[in-house]
Amino acid sequence: MWPSRGDSGLRWLKPKFSRRSTLLIVLFWFGMWVFLNGLLFVHRTMISDFCTDDKSKKIIQRLCDQYRRGVLTGDLCEDLCVSRRLQYKRCLYYENGKKVLQADWKGVPVVLKSKLENFSSYESLGLLEYQDTLELSAMDVVLYATLEMKSSLGLEVRNTTVPRLWGRGLRRRHQGGLSRAELASLWSLLQQEEYTFFRVLQDLSQHVAKVLGSCGHFYAVEYLVAGQAWSQHLFALEELLGLSTRDKETGRSQGGLVRDIVLQIALSFLDMVQCFDGDFAHRLHLCDIKPENFAVRKDLTVVAIDVDMAFFEPKMRAILEQNCTTDEDCNFFDCVSRCDVKRNKCGWKRVNSNLQVICDKIFRHWFSPTLLGTRAGHPLEVELQRAVQECAEVAGGERTDRGRVVQDRLLHLLTQLLQDGGGRSRRAEQGGG
Ligand SMILES: Nc1ncnc2c1ncn2[C@@H]1O[C@H](COP(=O)(O)OP(=O)(O)OP(=O)(O)O)[C@@H](O)[C@H]1O
Ligand SMILES: *[C@@H]1O[C@H](CO)[C@@H](O)[C@H](O)[C@H]1NC(C)=O
Ligand SMILES: *[C@@H]1O[C@H](CO)[C@@H](O)[C@H](O)[C@H]1NC(C)=O
Ligand SMILES: *[C@@H]1O[C@H](CO)[C@@H](O)[C@H](O)[C@H]1NC(C)=O
Repeated sequence: MWPSRGDSGLRWLKPKFSRRSTLLIVLFWFGMWVFLNGLLFVHRTMISDFCTDDKSKKIIQRLCDQYRRGVLTGDLCEDLCVSRRLQYKRCLYYENGKKVLQADWKGVPVVLKSKLENFSSYESLGLLEYQDTLELSAMDVVLYATLEMKSSLGLEVRNTTVPRLWGRGLRRRHQGGLSRAELASLWSLLQQEEYTFFRVLQDLSQHVAKVLGSCGHFYAVEYLVAGQAWSQHLFALEELLGLSTRDKETGRSQGGLVRDIVLQIALSFLDMVQCFDGDFAHRLHLCDIKPENFAVRKDLTVVAIDVDMAFFEPKMRAILEQNCTTDEDCNFFDCVSRCDVKRNKCGWKRVNSNLQVICDKIFRHWFSPTLLGTRAGHPLEVELQRAVQECAEVAGGERTDRGRVVQDRLLHLLTQLLQDGGGRSRRAEQGGG
């Protein structure tokens, strides 16, 4: 009797036990999840520096104190620290010391940026320490600035470029040399690759954020509507609609207007691709393509705002040429090459293109059947969807020919759709970008 009873008892107990233990495990995982999320929250709010007005104002106060003491200078210092025509508005972003603040400059919104919070955190210019009697000639400065730019861009920078970029400062004091504060400020700016990058490409492309001026280690760029991966149209079109008031007069429906704006931004993306592929001495590769890294101006031109992952051809080759065993080893974010299995080395040539990745990560989102709604049946729309799909899939080897064809087709379709939508007047105004 006993054994059989015990047996049946155990058999009855077994499933109950395992059910209870599954419940325990689930509860345990849930607990862990809550705990880890809590930890993450605490970390984000307390340990990593949190964006507050108080902190931002202190940073600007320190900057101005140093300006008054003659430690640093710049063409914006007067407006920021004395006349207060440049006023702090809100903070946009703090991460790993990087500060991005929004300010108002004589009624125009601008963005103040610095890679590091404190001026003293930047490496000081060695020359300043060795030479007491500061008699640095403009030529020395040019030499140093050239070397610094070369190392951050991976480019041979012609020695005439520097005087042009810092023309005002250098020409004004050509004889007397630059002041200590001017040199120290220039040096802190040169250590920020992004500043150098923007500055060098300033006059060459409208698709790069405009640098408006600087004070110490902070530089101002134009305020733009930055992309957001989570928003329906990737850019806050409402903000853009508000900005371009001209359209209110035409009295078009909101839906049509939104559609026109998306088409125009897409056209500007195409223009940017063309510019980065061919307008500079070297092709410019964008290796981190996502909405957040681009922004849109009031006139709907697309601007690259995060250039940490933008490389000119020579640097791109150096980055891609790695040891490998499979093709996967040759993916550098959005920049991809192939593995030569005989040499176990990645090819130096990128096999995909900026356009291909933009089609994949941005256009595909805009021109998908779900977002089109009632327009999805329109023959041109269908053709556009197909073109975008093809663009995202074009294999690399044929890039020069096929890529060109795909680009022209997209350009044609987008222009056609924009005209059908009645955006003719606006496009004409813009003058073709
Ligand atoms: N010119 C601008 N106008 C409006 N907002 C801007 C501008 N520049 C930067 N921002 C905002 O600040 C954020 C951070 O700027 P930025 O991309 O330069 O920082 P980052 O450290 O390079 O970013 P990431 O962490 O993505 O590399 C952007 O996502 C954007 O929202
Ligand atoms: C910047 O300087 C202030 C005051 O000198 C100091 O309290 C702060 O810790 C510094 N920040 C960094 C990141 O070095
Ligand atoms: C810059 O050019 C001048 C003359 O054109 C030359 O003397 C000087 O050495 C050059 N400097 C560098 C860094 O190439
Ligand atoms: C790549 O491989 C070569 C030879 O196979 C080796 O000498 C070299 O150190 C490797 N480089 C890296 C970065 O692993």
